[in-house]
Amino acid sequence: MTDAASVLAGKTAVVTGASSGIGKAVAERLIAAGARAALVGRSEERLREAASGWPSGAWIPLPCDVRDAEAARAMAAAAERELGRVDILVNSAGVFKAAPLTELGDEAWRELWETNVNGTLFPTRALLPGMLERGEGWIVVVSSVAAHRGYAGMTGYGATKHAVTGFARALSTEVRRQGVRVVNAFVGPVDTPIWAGMATPLPPEEMLTADEVADAIIGAMTVSGKQVIEDLLLLPQGGLYF
Ligand SMILES: NC(=O)c1ccc[n+]([C@@H]2O[C@H](COP(=O)([O-])OP(=O)(O)OC[C@H]3O[C@@H](n4cnc5c(N)ncnc54)[C@H](OP(=O)(O)O)[C@@H]3O)[C@@H](O)[C@H]2O)c1
Repeated sequence: MTDAASVLAGKTAVVTGASSGIGKAVAERLIAAGARAALVGRSEERLREAASGWPSGAWIPLPCDVRDAEAARAMAAAAERELGRVDILVNSAGVFKAAPLTELGDEAWRELWETNVNGTLFPTRALLPGMLERGEGWIVVVSSVAAHRGYAGMTGYGATKHAVTGFARALSTEVRRQGVRVVNAFVGPVDTPIWAGMATPLPPEEMLTADEVADAIIGAMTVSGKQVIEDLLLLPQGGLYF
């Protein structure tokens, strides 16, 4: 079994969605294992608030709206400049909207697609060349159980998560032999602010926690030897949907 710190110490990471929930929990673990991280979200204030208490010098805030291709390119260049290189990208920025298709408006569809899909493609495309040049890298795509099966009320959200899972799986076959590991995480319901104002499928205490999901992602990234965990399916032990 590999100790995460033996893989991650001294590494450098970009974590999108680092101001909250799963992204914040993954960033905290990367830093605890000795990595340095650029924290990405739309608000510098929220990023600083999330990281207050983390060792200074181990992180920098890089505010960026991942829906914007040019902003994502500039963010990636700034991360490479400030950290020296970027070994790890965790794509956790995302939004969730549940509605029957007849009530899913244009604006909600656009926001889902632009954030969850474009917001994964843009940072990945910008940071991949450096990883390929060095022959080493880790890319995590935070997908969802909504990409594993279809669920009522999730035509929009589920379509975006199927898209990023397809993206991750295809990318893995493109770059695996060149030293870059791509992990697609089908994540079950997690008790985070993404559910604010919405009915949860389980009582919050039965949902996964962001810390549990982050532990599993770090475990999948740091698997020993030549292995690559391409798909990770995380469910609450009490069961859900299936
Ligand atoms: N919670 C769940 O049940 C669950 C289950 C399966 C999968 N997921 C996925 O897990 C990921 C993280 O979700 P979470 O539950 O941790 O949600 P969360 O607590 O609401 O965090 C979402 C993060 O995304 C960032 N973000 C949103 N839009 C952005 C944009 N345009 N540009 C940059 N950053 C943006 C937010 O930062 P700012 O608002 O500060 O910009 C925040 O840091 C999402 O992709 C979600 O689809 C969640």
